Amino acid sequence: MRKVFLMFSLILFSRKSETTEKRSLKDYFPSASEESAPPSATASPEVAESISRGARIYNNFCATCHLGSGQGIANAFPPLNKSDWLQQRRQESIKAVKHGLKGPIEVNGQEYNSVMTDLGLTDQEVADVMNYILTAWDNNIGPAVTVEEVAEL
Ligand code: HEC
Repeated sequence: MRKVFLMFSLILFSRKSETTEKRSLKDYFPSASEESAPPSATASPEVAESISRGARIYNNFCATCHLGSGQGIANAFPPLNKSDWLQQRRQESIKAVKHGLKGPIEVNGQEYNSVMTDLGLTDQEVADVMNYILTAWDNNIGPAVTVEEVAEL
């Protein structure tokens, strides 16, 4: 009886590994996507390009304070990842990146009262870096920022 049971489970087991080995479409066509694409890929090519330029600007100009992970440094530099300020104050965020920001602000329940200097970016660079931080890490904030929008602020 035990032997039969063993045989039976062996057959079951081998069946199971057979099904897990079943190849998916992706093995043959690596570009075939079975899941939904991330937001940056579903965005228009213009926005995708803006985001990738923005990533470079971010690493050169912003990561020193807000860190590569966008988490900032407690009591010194506010976070950009999951920042309620960035989420809720689109225009003020664009203005901050364009002209700098100083004075008391509250981000995710924490007070900051410091200075971010005017970084001297062009309107295009401001739009690009905004598009990066709006979609980087856990952020998924839209719509994309345009140069025209930056120019008005
Ligand atoms: C020298 C450090 C420094 C650099 C570099 C810097 N920031 Fe900041 N940033 C700050 C500080 C400090 C504040 C908060 C200012 C205050 O207390 O009023 C801030 C605030 C912000 C805010 C609004 C608050 C929030 O967390 O949502 C945004 C958005 C922002 N920065 C984006 C950027 C971007 C984009 C860049 C690069 C183009 C950048 N910062 C570069 C120091 C910096």
